[in-house]
Amino acid sequence: MSEIANITLEGKTYECPVITGSENEKAIDISKLRAQTGYITIDTGFKNTGSTKSGITFLDGEKGILRYRGYPIEQLADQAEFLEVAYLLVYGNLPSKEEFLAFKESITHHTLVHEDMRQFLEAYPAKAHPMGIMAASLCTLSTFYPESQDPTRPTEAIDLTIHRLIAKTPTLAAWAYKNAMRHPLMYPLNKFDYCENFLYMMFANPSEKYYADPVIVNALNKLLILHADHEQNCSASTVRIVGSSQANLYASISAGVSALWGPLHGGANQAVIEMLEAIKNDGGKLDKWIQKAKDKNDPFRLMGFGHRVYKNFDPRAKIIKKAADDVLNKLGVVDPVLDIAKQLEEVALSDQYFVDRGLYPNVDFYSGIIYRALGIPTEMFTVMFALGRLPGWIAQWKEMMEEGQPIGRPRQVYTGENERDYIPLEKR
Ligand code: SDX
Repeated sequence: MSEIANITLEGKTYECPVITGSENEKAIDISKLRAQTGYITIDTGFKNTGSTKSGITFLDGEKGILRYRGYPIEQLADQAEFLEVAYLLVYGNLPSKEEFLAFKESITHHTLVHEDMRQFLEAYPAKAHPMGIMAASLCTLSTFYPESQDPTRPTEAIDLTIHRLIAKTPTLAAWAYKNAMRHPLMYPLNKFDYCENFLYMMFANPSEKYYADPVIVNALNKLLILHADHEQNCSASTVRIVGSSQANLYASISAGVSALWGPLHGGANQAVIEMLEAIKNDGGKLDKWIQKAKDKNDPFRLMGFGHRVYKNFDPRAKIIKKAADDVLNKLGVVDPVLDIAKQLEEVALSDQYFVDRGLYPNVDFYSGIIYRALGIPTEMFTVMFALGRLPGWIAQWKEMMEEGQPIGRPRQVYTGENERDYIPLEKR
């Protein structure tokens, strides 16, 4: 017997069905509420509102659970290759050996970017933020594939677009970095796997042989997996709503990159390092910064802390914190900022303000410390987040398109002026 929610308005009771998910999550389906009652609901920031059902990612904020298509993030981060996880998110199951080889082969042979893209790249100033370059480049990429403009085309055309995006985004990301350094661009080499190829394009130069340290390759692989999807977060919701107008996939992903850029979302990983550096340069006075974060009159927030869903701990942060120790030890890197981060976490988690509000380190709190150890510059941290999140965005877009979901168009409650007559300029 399915549950019903009764809503009584102006003395009349209406029934709304309750839906139950595969992990027993409950929701009141209000899709017929306005037609039945004339009322809508309102929930600024969608803190209590689901936008869709989805079979891609499950997370439990109270228990700190995160699974991609049912597989626990801890197992995937420890045992899988990033492209395997990309396949899992986009196509719904782990690939067989044959499927994985075919997928990797296809990705490898689409890593090159049209040579004309260099003209756009070289027009950017050296100080251009790479997230701005990424958002623009991904949308520009669509113009080189006019046949990909129609997202409703048959599967093979959509698959080709998906493979092109997964293959070319690392090339564009590395080129954005090389452009900022005014260093020669490095072209992808088919002999390298996904992570090695990216590191080669980022750090190699034409005059010497490149060697990718397996410690760095494995750390990058783990970080990309940990960022690969996170259900209906700000940027994934952006990809869905842009895609719901039947804009092409490149444009939808470009919009997701723009949403991720914000310091409250993916931009937090850059903001965390800038915050930790500021604390270090300020003599490491942790209490002063904790007080600032608690002061309602101070716009400062503890970057990398807090989460809309996780109110106990972010499972990704736990894995990244351990990985940070491992990677820095293996690379022989000593980063005082890691110690400041650990001390800050300890002080904050013993402070009632943070405990009462369920504010714990999130995925962005420790990730930047590893990126730094890998030699990735701070301004590229959010690009790394986008590189990881790309298959998740694609999976969310694909699920929405395959379900034929309607264009996203929320309602509102008008609170402006009531009707009034126009007054000609000469009489005002
Ligand atoms: C990501 O959604 C996702 O899944 C995102 C993500 C993903 O994988 O896609 O996990 C990636 O974006 C992680 C979050 C990265 N952002 C940051 O680290 C920025 C700092 N964090 C905050 O800005 C904040 O915690 C958010 C944006 C993450 C969540 O904000 P919410 O859910 O809207 O919570 P809120 O702003 O309503 O805060 C509730 C209370 C408020 O205090 P009161 O009004 O109750 O007194 O907690 C306080 C806030 O002031 N608070 C903080 C704080 N975060 C929340 N106070 C100090 N420092 C913080 N970081």
